[in-house]
Amino acid sequence: MRHRVHIQPPRHPGRVVARLPGDKSISHRAVLFAAVAQGTSRIHGALDTGDVGHSVAVARALGARVTRDGAHLVVVGTDKNAPVDVDCGRSGTTLRLTTGLLVGRATPGRLRADPQLLARPMDRVVEPLRVLGGALDWRADGMHLDAHRGLRPATIAPSVASAQVKGAVLLAGVLGGVPVTVDECAPTRDHTERLLRAMGVDVVRTDRRVRAVAPGPLRAVDVDVPGDPSSAAALATAAALLDGATVEMPGVCLNPGRTGFFDVLKRMGAAVTRRGLVTDIEPRADIVVEGGPRLRATDVGPDEIPALVDEVMLVGLLATQADGVTRLRGLSELRVKESDRVAEMARVLRAFGATIDVAGDDVTISGQTPLRATTVNAGRDHRVAMLASLAALCGDGRSTIEGADYIADSFPRFGEVLAAWGALC
Ligand code: S3P
Repeated sequence: MRHRVHIQPPRHPGRVVARLPGDKSISHRAVLFAAVAQGTSRIHGALDTGDVGHSVAVARALGARVTRDGAHLVVVGTDKNAPVDVDCGRSGTTLRLTTGLLVGRATPGRLRADPQLLARPMDRVVEPLRVLGGALDWRADGMHLDAHRGLRPATIAPSVASAQVKGAVLLAGVLGGVPVTVDECAPTRDHTERLLRAMGVDVVRTDRRVRAVAPGPLRAVDVDVPGDPSSAAALATAAALLDGATVEMPGVCLNPGRTGFFDVLKRMGAAVTRRGLVTDIEPRADIVVEGGPRLRATDVGPDEIPALVDEVMLVGLLATQADGVTRLRGLSELRVKESDRVAEMARVLRAFGATIDVAGDDVTISGQTPLRATTVNAGRDHRVAMLASLAALCGDGRSTIEGADYIADSFPRFGEVLAAWGALC
């Protein structure tokens, strides 16, 4: 989409079959892990624009060959170990996972980052990797890594529930040839574990503990990247908000660490159907959401947040159109994403006329509130731009969203669905 777009509520939204982008988290991991595996991996359906482009740049900087063959990214892994100096842009997943990868291989280098990413917390990944024996420093200009004399086995208990931290630690241990254990404070998406297993690593999960031991180098693997459930959640939100809309989404990733939004959506009374579950490395199914049913308020507690961490703002928007008072509690991790998403959710929804209170890391939203058309600058956060675009679908006229171009970080073809409904003007 362009930087500034105009969006109006569609008159006759109708049925749309959406082509979802490949899951962002899995695409990052598939590219990065394949870059250091033995052999050639073929990655089908990877998101290869926006954020994931930075992981492709890392793979190439490491010495891997990455080419495109139709819908496949073909990655020929490398065992070279020359110093790297590469830009991770705004991609936190690229930066944190690559940090673990470089520590695992004892590769020196520097990971540069956009000022937006430089402002995000990195102690959470630096500290555990130092416990493993990594030599690294997070400075004003990015992550600096030195060679080290080898890693030691360790058990890490990260202070936050973060799949990126878990992924960085597991990857470091696996590539560094030492057994590592991560004790999670709450279960997070397990894409790293699933992919490492498919590449020959022995990964055992018991309750909140994950232990990984690599019997040898990673083996190349073919990955079929399922549709991104976070992008699916955005379209599901649109459909649930629009009477007469139906969105059909084939092949949505249903990793249990990612399905929290759909559980909440159903609890709010939306018409959600799932069909044809298949499991390869990851589970996937088709999801259909139909607009029409009246939504009701809900409570989302801190335990639920990790499984919908990127979708909480969408629940906030749904809550403005639901009967009753919705409470979203324990949102501290949202404050350290591409923007402070608690503050941004409140700012954007208030601009549309919603009633929303923020107390610490808890948010209360009263519905049902008619939304009015407005002009909003979404900053540089793709999910905030998506939130604003979806809110505009419920306005009382034409809204203007500035910063809509950032949506391409995760969902480059988002505008096509709005256009199919006649909402882009
Ligand atoms: C991601 C994990 C989550 C999520 C981010 C992608 C991943 O971040 O918000 O969009 O790919 O592992 P945290 O690990 O910081 O919670």
